[in-house]
Amino acid sequence: VTIFVPRDAASLALGAEKVAAAITSEIAARSIDARIVRNGSRGMFWLEPLVEVRTDHGRVAYGPVKASDIKDLFDAGFLSGKAHPLCLGLTKEIPFLRQQTRLTFSRCGVTDPLSLDDYRHYQGLKGLEQAIAMPRAEIGAQVTESGLRGRGGAGFPTGIKWKTVMEAVAPQKYIVCNADEGDSATFADRMIMEGDPFVLIEGMVIAGIATGATRGYIYTRSEYPHAITTMSEAIGIARAAGILGLSVLGSDHAFDIEIRAGAGAYVCGEETALLNSLEGKRGIVRVKPPLPALQGFLGRPTVVNNVISLASIPVIMHRGAAFYRDFGMGRSRGTIPIQIAGNVKYGGLFETAFGLSLGEIIDHIGGGTATGRPVKAVQVGGPLGAYFPRALFDTPFDYEAFAAKDGLIGHAGITVFDDTVDMLKQARFAMEFCAIESCGKCTPCRIGSTRGVETIDRIRQGIEPEKNKALLVDLCNTMKFGSLCALGGFTPYPVMSAMTHFPEDFSPAPLVEAAE
Ligand code: NAI
Ligand code: SF4
Repeated sequence: VTIFVPRDAASLALGAEKVAAAITSEIAARSIDARIVRNGSRGMFWLEPLVEVRTDHGRVAYGPVKASDIKDLFDAGFLSGKAHPLCLGLTKEIPFLRQQTRLTFSRCGVTDPLSLDDYRHYQGLKGLEQAIAMPRAEIGAQVTESGLRGRGGAGFPTGIKWKTVMEAVAPQKYIVCNADEGDSATFADRMIMEGDPFVLIEGMVIAGIATGATRGYIYTRSEYPHAITTMSEAIGIARAAGILGLSVLGSDHAFDIEIRAGAGAYVCGEETALLNSLEGKRGIVRVKPPLPALQGFLGRPTVVNNVISLASIPVIMHRGAAFYRDFGMGRSRGTIPIQIAGNVKYGGLFETAFGLSLGEIIDHIGGGTATGRPVKAVQVGGPLGAYFPRALFDTPFDYEAFAAKDGLIGHAGITVFDDTVDMLKQARFAMEFCAIESCGKCTPCRIGSTRGVETIDRIRQGIEPEKNKALLVDLCNTMKFGSLCALGGFTPYPVMSAMTHFPEDFSPAPLVEAAE
């Protein structure tokens, strides 16, 4: 019998380790021949720890399981998938999973993250094998043809970035994976690193072959210790198996990967600050141009791609550009792992083709708020994303459709708020966040964010509210058009959207609150 207990950070936070220990002792006490596989998460966090058992009919899920439930589960015959109040039926039939199109996350939660046998069994390395058999330029052409755009948030065509690096002439080139996942409501990068690390390695190796880079770095957060451990072990296994090293899978391509952990600055997710940090310098933004594609890590041509962009490469190479391109809408092709969080009933990761409406995502997939109160606002795209009211819920999940409504999909994290949220406080939080995280290089961001907090405070206190609201709009425009990077440049999105869509919250507070 095979029992699956996740070891993803979210499941561990919810008690997965105790559940695994309780299952181990129950197996021993009952002298049962069973083994426990510590898989990644399926991304349904309201059901974690989600324990699965492999049966003749497929995997049967139970959740959320507590250590104190284990004896009862064994008594009820859960090892053969028998009914129990915690039984969710066949895992693949759980509506939240069944409705997804899992291309990038096809193995996440399914396999043992550190088993290369599992990885190969579920189509792993097929993309790399195809890439090795292709001329270098053809790999990049396939990626361009697939329509893949940077999943970190900016949506720049991945194939074009690779072409720039491929055509650059230099003695050394690099692949840098941006795994500094800092946006609120995002965990897709972490889930890949903890749940299917080989797919990221495979994507990076393909990027290296396509561009002529032989060294790769994964720059992640020190707040992701489990991801660092799993990735490090996976890199060791890949080296031993000849996937990394001087001769990738016996070819004449060399590639190797190292991991670096940042010290917790949000701005180090910005690619040039990240490169500075990677070089051991302070994480300050560099002026572009030169683009990292031409002068990046140590001044050499460098591909800086997000985890999800790189992890989507193997399926594109294996199934073909046309297969991937067939999903999606407009210029947003393929699938996107939407991360639903905040005050929501069914929080988790939902990979689907671009094009679902925001309302479908929040109401049908997310099930509305956890508190049961009406949804007032959702913030899409992390702390720098716009707040959308219900009136914009018909917006399709697509880069251009969101931009047309003064929003962004960013790294596809969504935070849900119910009707008790105070949007002025949220706008204040955006400015405060920018003030704390600003790298200090440019004035609109460094000074503007602090002036923004003060101006919003004056609006709340009823001090010349109309004049201060006009001042805030002016300040937002200065930050938007005058900042060097997205941190200062995008902070106006949450502030302006809060003011535009929820003007009632920008009236002076009632006297009783002002007195507090
Ligand atoms: P950007 O638009 O300046 O650049 C996008 C990418 O394309 C960069 O890698 C850039 O070097 C590259 N590029 C542009 N022109 C190129 C060319 N001609 N050839 C080759 N490469 C080229 O955007 P930026 O500042 O890199 O990212 C901003 C985005 O980051 C925002 O949209 C935001 O959503 C997202 N973001 C994501 C976070 C996360 O945790 N994942 C956190 C904060 C922001
Ligand atoms: Fe630094 Fe802010 Fe300027 Fe970006 S916008 S370079 S974070 S000061």
